[in-house]
Parts: sequence; C-alpha cells; structure tokens
Amino acid sequence: MSASGERRPSSHAGSCGAVVMLMAMSFAAASVAQGVDDEPTWAYGVSPPPVPGATVYELPGAERSFTLDEIRDVWGPADWYPGDHPEMPDIVANGRFPRVWACSLCHYPNGKGRPENAGVAGLPVDYFIRTMNDFREGRRASAQPRKFNTNTMIGIAQGMTDEEIAEAAEYYASMPWTPWIRVVETDEVPKMRFILGMYVPLEGEEAGMEPLGLRIVETPDGEDWHRVERMRDPRTGFIAYVPIGSVEKGRELVETGGGGTTVQCAICHGPDLNGLGFIPGIVGRSPSYFMRQLYDFREGSRSGEMAALMQPTVANLTVEDMINMAAYLSSLPVPQVGAE
Ligand code: HEC
Ligand code: HEC
Repeated sequence: MSASGERRPSSHAGSCGAVVMLMAMSFAAASVAQGVDDEPTWAYGVSPPPVPGATVYELPGAERSFTLDEIRDVWGPADWYPGDHPEMPDIVANGRFPRVWACSLCHYPNGKGRPENAGVAGLPVDYFIRTMNDFREGRRASAQPRKFNTNTMIGIAQGMTDEEIAEAAEYYASMPWTPWIRVVETDEVPKMRFILGMYVPLEGEEAGMEPLGLRIVETPDGEDWHRVERMRDPRTGFIAYVPIGSVEKGRELVETGGGGTTVQCAICHGPDLNGLGFIPGIVGRSPSYFMRQLYDFREGSRSGEMAALMQPTVANLTVEDMINMAAYLSSLPVPQVGAE
C-alpha cells in the first residue's frame, strides 16, 4: 500500500498527549501517596497506573513498541505499521467517547480484521454505509444473541454521526482487499480454546489433535498465535481448517447453484465474485465471517432492504452447504491490484 508514512493527525497527537499526561498523573498517584479526596480511579479500573517496568511488546519491522494497555486502548490502539495504510481519520484511529470505540482496535488500521469481527478493507462505500445504517436501525444483528462483539458493533454504529460513517467508509474502501486467509482441508485439527471469540491452540499438556467434524476452525497462521491474539499483529493472517472435499462441493454450489439449492453468486457479486457496484466482494475473506452472515441471512437477523436479495440464495441452504460455500469462497485467490 502506498502510504504517507506520516504520523497520525494532530487531533491524535492531542489525545495521545492527554493519555500520556493521565498516565503520568496516575503513575504519580500510585507511586506517591493518593490524596485524601482524589477520585479513586483504581476502584473503577480506568486509566490504571502504568506498572513500572511493564512488559513492552515488539513486532518485526515495527518502529515502535507498545505495552498491552496501549495495544488494547479502545480510544487509540497501537498502530504497529503506520506505513502500511493511508492516514486514518480520527474516528478510525481514536473513536469518540463515549460509545464509538476506535474501529482500528477490532478491524485493524489496515481493515483486515479477525475471524471474530470482519474484514472491512475494500468494501464498496455504498455497501459500508448501508450496512452501518442497518446496524444502527435494528436491521442487522447476530442470529446468536450471545455474540457480544456484534452487540458492541451495533452500539458503535448507533453512536456515530452520518459524517463519521462516511469517513470510515471512504477510508477502508481506499484499501483493496488482499490475501489474508490460507484454507487447508483436513479431518483433524489442533485442540483449541476460545479467547474472546477467536480459536487458539491449546498448549503444553493440553495440546493434542481432535476431529474437525462439520466445522470450520480459523486460527492465527504461523508459529506464534500470541502475536495475533495479544499483540494484534496486523500483518499475520489466518489459517482456516475446513472439511475434506468442502472446497469442491462449495465450488459446485457457487458456480451452478446446485440445481436449485441456491442461486449462482456471480449474478450479483460479479463475474470474479469480487463485488459489483454496491454489492460487496466475497473472495478470500474469513470463512467464519461468511458462515455467520449466511446463517444470519437465513435466520432473518440481517433483514435490511438489500439483505432481501440474499434470501433466495440462503433459504434452502443447510449448515453443511454453508460450510462448503464458505470454504470455497475463502480459498479463492484475491485479485491482485498491486497492493502490499
Ligand atoms: C469491538 C470490536 C469492534 C469495533 C471497535 C468496531 N467493530 Fe465493526 N464489527 C465488529 C464485529 C464483531 C462485526 C460483525 C461481526 C458479525 O456480525 O459477524 C463488525 C462488522 C462491521 C462491518 C460490516 C462488514 C461487512 O462486511 O458487512 C462494518 C462496515 C464495520 N464493522 C465498521 C466499523 C467501524 C466504522 C468501526 C469504528 C467506528 C467499527 N466497525 C468498530 C466489531 C467491531
Ligand atoms: C440476487 C443477488 C445476489 C445473489 C444471487 C447473491 N448475493 Fe450475496 N449479497 C447480495 C447483496 C445485495 C448483499 C448485501 C446485503 C446487505 O446489504 O445486507 C449480499 C451479501 C452477501 C454476503 C455478506 C457480505 C458481507 O460483507 O457481509 C455474503 C457472504 C454473500 N452475499 C454470499 C453470497 C453467496 C455465497 C452467493 C451465491 C451462493 C450469493 N451471495 C448470491 C446479493 C446477492
């Protein structure tokens, strides 16, 4: 991505300064004595004092290092590689108190996102704005009410102005979608646990293999999942374990409609499935995300005006069909547009 490589806008420098000051203040409060009537921030768990000597994390090629609190700061999370993306609008980099968390926390500054949220880079602006309005106005929710971060996403959309939504949409649309998922067919996967909605392999004595069954299991690619889970490394993508044979079965459904089981996707999503006008691309993105959307459409929890177009596609699908389609779509090569 051609990038300005510049620092964030000055408004960020401002809030960053404020954070540093706050931290310095709370540090003073913690290390000296707390005044008799100082606000007991420690009881609220806000702006916890930096632990002297707190671990600082580093990633290869990143110029800055960050503490965990900085990496996860909902009002301005770590931007590991500012040179990888254009300058972020303030709402993407820092969010806006009280309801709008920084988009870059979950979707990353480069919009690649994680299996438990969504890849938002390269979405058509019109689609982005429409789906944000669907979140805002009760037409887009998760079919699984306990999926807490979709509920967070709804609150965020509700807290935003139209202008902020448009800024975020333009920003993420300015970056093309690029390869991020490696699909592997298998019948056995490492035993996993969930951390905040993301699968990570068990370690030590708990480690082992288990049958995949009729599932897709998506986990950080590469040796060190901590780098993704803990440090939110925006350059490490994901590996998706899918059932043996699923990619070919998915191809059949996607390309032919499976003799009435579904509708050929290319009619609306474009000949290469990389999007057409206001219809989003469905190539090389997270299969877990695809699964949730197909299921949500079928269950009616995505019920916007445009979601109606998806109804005939999903009405007769079984979960197994959806797994096959998601596996195939994610395995498709992302068209190269000279980025990265
Ligand atoms: C707490 C994490 C979190 C934050 C912060 C967050 N999102 Fe999301 N976002 C999600 C989740 C989770 C989903 C949808 C997951 C699902 O339904 O499967 C989502 C979905 C989306 C989608 C839909 C993508 C698609 O392909 O339809 C858009 C657009 C989006 N977010 C924009 C934003 C913007 C803009 C911001 C910042 C103002 C933001 N998000 C901040 C978690 C987050
Ligand atoms: C008649 C047109 C049409 C056909 C055919 C169609 N889609 Fe869609 N699809 C749409 C529209 C429009 C949207 C956006 C819906 C919205 O705004 O909520 C969409 C959205 C999606 C999404 C959600 C994308 C996201 O970022 O959240 C997925 C996944 C999807 N389609 C998969 C498929 C698959 C797989 C097929 C073929 C089996 C297919 N679609 C066929 C029109 C279509």
